Amino acid sequence: MKKVKRVGILTAGGDSPGLNAAIRATGKALLGAGIEVIGFHDGFQGLLDNLTFPLNKQALAGILTVGGTVLGTSRVKPHRVEIGGKVHDMTDVIVENCRRNGLDALVCIGGGGTHKNALRLVRKGLHIVTLPKTIDNDIARTDATIGFDTALGIATEAIDRLHSTAHSHHRIVIAELMGHRAGWLALGAGIAGGADAILLPEIPYDVAKVAQAINRRKEHGNNFSIVAVAEGALSRDDAPAIAAAVKRRKQARTLKEKRSAKEEIRKLEAAHTGNTLRLAAQLEKITQLEARVTILGYVQRGGTPSAADRLLATRLGTACAEFIQAGEFGVMVAARGDGVEAVPIDQVAGKLKTIPPDHPWILAARRVGTCLGD
Ligand code: F6P
Repeated sequence: MKKVKRVGILTAGGDSPGLNAAIRATGKALLGAGIEVIGFHDGFQGLLDNLTFPLNKQALAGILTVGGTVLGTSRVKPHRVEIGGKVHDMTDVIVENCRRNGLDALVCIGGGGTHKNALRLVRKGLHIVTLPKTIDNDIARTDATIGFDTALGIATEAIDRLHSTAHSHHRIVIAELMGHRAGWLALGAGIAGGADAILLPEIPYDVAKVAQAINRRKEHGNNFSIVAVAEGALSRDDAPAIAAAVKRRKQARTLKEKRSAKEEIRKLEAAHTGNTLRLAAQLEKITQLEARVTILGYVQRGGTPSAADRLLATRLGTACAEFIQAGEFGVMVAARGDGVEAVPIDQVAGKLKTIPPDHPWILAARRVGTCLGD
């Protein structure tokens, strides 16, 4: 096998705490093995425009605790790059830039979209290893994703703090949490923060059931409630529309049909804060309690990573360097228990990890009396 001499690293998709810890671990382990490391700015855009800089010891120093990514990131998709109003497949340009940079391997640190992009490049013959990064925890075949633990802590503390205004003003306080199409962040922080109701994309909710739970609390003298809502949560009235659009996308025979269905899904999903505000108005009307909404948003992705995310990023990043030296390409470095597993990227790309209905967290929430809207 050809000796690995030069490796590129990029970060793509939403930023998340722990990204710099992952860059640092991967880079230091590769440098320690005598391998040169270069960083690409702004995700796959940096590969397209050849925006590189040396990830040497100086560049990697002091970044373990820094939020975000020193490389920058983007959501650019190499196969669908808009230039002059037209969409182009620029994958071959990326392959050529990797060759021009003399890369023996490329490390892509990212979430669902990054793994789809990485798979296309694997199929073009590039030697790629990915690391699972997202605060959503929705990447298949890995026990954990870099950023989730930190976001969980931030969201839990926010819910803790929202209790103050809820019980002081006898209000319903609704916290909207990130998570895209999965409810892991809302479920985890809702349980940890003692939310009285947790609404998830996986369980289309009945507003009447949520109001009933709030009214029951009122009857027992608790005239305030905390509702944790995942941004992707939908009511039973809204869920069929998105399910139908998803089905249309899957059955689409032409690119035009596929694009139309994807646009409809995007619009329905982008309505999430609108859904949360509508939910607040509905609950206020039924329960006669004031309702207030807090959108946690990008706070959940900010600041220094938790110890757990630093440990996870270091564990996965150093294992990534091992895989590269062993010539193990086309794989994601998955967290498995205390160890790691090389999972083929084609078993990860396009596969969303959502919460199973019988997941222990779901059962625990129900057993402490949390309303899940069903
Ligand atoms: O994937 C991470 C995430 O924070 C999701 O939870 C959220 O829906 C999305 O990114 C927001 O995307 P952007 O940063 O492009 O607005």
